[in-house]
Amino acid sequence: MHKLLVALVGDSRCEVEFLANKAEGRNAHVVFECDVLPTRGEDPAVRQLCDLDPELVAISVAAEHADRLLAAIRLLRSELPGSVICAVGASDQLSTIVRCIREGAADFIDKNLDREAFQDAIAGLASDVLRSSKKQGRIVTFMGSKGGCGATTLAVNTAIALQDICGSVILLDLAPHPHAALHLNVTPEFGIADALANLERMDKHLLDSFTVSSLHGLALLSGITHPMATKVDPAELLGLFDLLATRYDQIIVDCSGRADGISRSICYASSDVLLVALPNVCSLWSARRSYEFLAWEMDRERLHIVLNRCRKADGAAEEALQAHIWWQVPEGGEAVANSVECGTPILVSAKSDLARSIRGLAEAVMKTSGPKKAPGECIPSPALPEVNASHGESAALSLSKCGR
Ligand SMILES: Nc1ncnc2c1ncn2[C@@H]1O[C@H](COP(=O)(O)OP(=O)(O)OP(=O)(O)O)[C@@H](O)[C@H]1O
Ligand SMILES: [Mg+2]
Repeated sequence: MHKLLVALVGDSRCEVEFLANKAEGRNAHVVFECDVLPTRGEDPAVRQLCDLDPELVAISVAAEHADRLLAAIRLLRSELPGSVICAVGASDQLSTIVRCIREGAADFIDKNLDREAFQDAIAGLASDVLRSSKKQGRIVTFMGSKGGCGATTLAVNTAIALQDICGSVILLDLAPHPHAALHLNVTPEFGIADALANLERMDKHLLDSFTVSSLHGLALLSGITHPMATKVDPAELLGLFDLLATRYDQIIVDCSGRADGISRSICYASSDVLLVALPNVCSLWSARRSYEFLAWEMDRERLHIVLNRCRKADGAAEEALQAHIWWQVPEGGEAVANSVECGTPILVSAKSDLARSIRGLAEAVMKTSGPKKAPGECIPSPALPEVNASHGESAALSLSKCGR
């Protein structure tokens, strides 16, 4: 779990200090303290709270002033719709507890709990924080069926296209060999390893300091610099995703050729997994196996095969895969390699069929609703140019013909 940003509001200085002492710790970072109960939206404390945008606001009022507590909860609920509000007080105030919950408080925490139990109570509100967050970002993962399929190229360029569409995208580089920063021509100082190492004290400000802003404002959390030296814990990674989901609409993950427990956990957490394959024997063979495993393990509706570097519409590839190809991306020739060499992604440098196809892919990703997608529904890929049949046919056809 990441540290929640907490604001404390009370009606006396010593009460607020008492709470701050209990709240600040492994689960929470107190970012605001106010010892005057706000009564109107224009109150300076309310304006400051709106600017700070805390994830949790804890309000504490002496038992005899229950009505003021309820009015403050009502006010803050309407002024801070993205924050979770909880009341703090003595546990014998039964009728006040019920009224607080009716007023929209997520919980009532007993102020006499010891520090440890108080912090556990705050941790218990983390899921409410996620649910009430203004953003409920979704994870879209690009996975190569084997190395070199174009997963990074597609993840980077789709992320740029999505950033143009919705303006709130982060690209996470979890490739075994992280190249996204090279594609975007940025030199990040920090990355995923730093974010994971600081997860215990992570809040959204610290997270922002680990990301780098790239093209069109696309955020990048860059990859692990020394892959063999860094161990990634899937549970910690999912904790990081929880936090990212409150900050960004789209979390694009580049797993490239990674096929391990980490990519498996990420696929589970994703609303869409794009399995990138090439139209050749080895790639289709691996794609079929990955597809079968993932379709069996997770919801098939979230799994999409993207055939990259196509030279023609290729029915034989679908036959070889025994699965529907969701999107076909055309061969982009040398321009693609050059775009990486120059650090100028294709979507920025060229108005090619390839760039159009990737924009279409991004729009298709925007339209999917992950697990809720109707069975059998698919979005047609744009038509691919017809070229010499011998090009695309041989590998895919030979694979299906020989039953591999
Ligand atoms: N549609 C395309 N047309 C032409 N070349 C492409 C296309 N997509 C990717 N490439 C090229 O294929 C090569 C591999 O691409 P990329 O690095 O994106 O693959 P990857 O799956 O991320 O590989 P890795 O497993 O090494 O991480 C690169 O040289 C890239 O320029
Ligand atoms: Mg890659």
